[in-house]
Amino acid sequence: QINEAEVVLFSVPSYACQRRTTLDNHNTTLTDALSLLAENAELSEEDGRGVAFRRAAAVLKALPAPVTAMSQLRGLPCLGDHSLRVIKDILENEASDEVESTKQSERFKALKVLTGIFGVGAKTADRWIRDGIHNLHQLRESGAALNRAQQAGLEHYDDLKQQVTKAEADAITEIVQEAVISVLPGAQVVLTGGFRRGKQTGHDVDFLITHPEEGREVGLMPKIVFWLESKGFLLYQKTTRNSYLEVKDGPGRPSSNMDRFERCLSIFKLAEKEERAIKVTENTVKTKDSVRDHTQSETDQDPQSHSYERHELTNPPVHRRWRAVRVDLVVSPISQFAFALLGWTGSKLFERELRRWAGHVKAMSLSSHALYDNKQSRYLRAASEEEIFAHLGLEYIPPSERNA
Ligand code: GTP
Ligand code: MN
Ligand code: MN
Repeated sequence: QINEAEVVLFSVPSYACQRRTTLDNHNTTLTDALSLLAENAELSEEDGRGVAFRRAAAVLKALPAPVTAMSQLRGLPCLGDHSLRVIKDILENEASDEVESTKQSERFKALKVLTGIFGVGAKTADRWIRDGIHNLHQLRESGAALNRAQQAGLEHYDDLKQQVTKAEADAITEIVQEAVISVLPGAQVVLTGGFRRGKQTGHDVDFLITHPEEGREVGLMPKIVFWLESKGFLLYQKTTRNSYLEVKDGPGRPSSNMDRFERCLSIFKLAEKEERAIKVTENTVKTKDSVRDHTQSETDQDPQSHSYERHELTNPPVHRRWRAVRVDLVVSPISQFAFALLGWTGSKLFERELRRWAGHVKAMSLSSHALYDNKQSRYLRAASEEEIFAHLGLEYIPPSERNA
């Protein structure tokens, strides 16, 4: 029996955009479980349930210590009956039957594999599963029609499901920077998404590009893409006008310069770093020397790895020297830059909560383009993220604390 007086009670504001959520999460078991249920709901196109689980997980991510008793959760926002039941199961039995059976379910596994292909969403995956396609082999054999994105996604499946490291993100940043400077001197590149929030790995690398002189960014994306393509950096790209919030914008539907907001979904061909290649060779030499020093070592060594090492010394390495990495590029006019930066930094739930706060609490419409005040019937300008938070009546939350 836990003494009530010793139980740490937590207090958390309702909206994720009012909270400081760093990457150090004291409740990963619980948040992993709730995130899995959220993912399952999203993959089943039950977005309402998905958001409910995401919000519950986000509350636990914001807690300063591990939850040890249900009583600590009293009064916390966003914890519905379903989420509470899952938390209780895990606290009492170390696991939740619902989470475990979801993880094991053939449908969930198939949805994960199929939507893990770049270009494949929940709808397509569901259709394929109904046609008896549950894995990549069956998909390849089925003759199902694939669009260009899906073909590229399937081709680079193994690379793309591997997390991108910060070092790889930095290498890609250098390439994108060179591309942008070459086609438009003075243009600026900012790393956004999870890496801007301080994450050490990600599923892709996100960039926002602008120019300090309004209008200079027009036509920039095709030039960047052409430069990258001509240098052989792109395995796939599709450039589209951004239409993310266009429909929803309603009265907040901004001016004509919205047409300039362009986005490129791409797959980069990232060469292995030269230093890394050299290091591999050095190690190989050392191994060879030490092998020579020991008389019995020829027999001790795994013959295959030995011949591989020797092979590497004399010939170019047999392994591939590059890998595929997902990269998102967005171009924004400087007048919308702060909104675009805020909108593309994430996390997804933090963004969703910012818009919910804007709408419900402030009667404003926030998008990655603008902030519209419905009561004053006017746009609120902002040159920085700080100004947007101030317009919204929120304390400024830096990117590293937006990991809701
Ligand atoms: P990982 O890439 O998995 O590390 O996480 P991430 O937070 O970087 O996620 P992701 O790259 O999917 O998205 C980055 C940010 O861009 C998030 O805040 C998304 O809400 C936002 N985002 C993604 N797609 C769109 C879009 O089509 N339009 C706009 N405006 N924002 C988007
Ligand atoms: Mn990302
Ligand atoms: Mn992205």
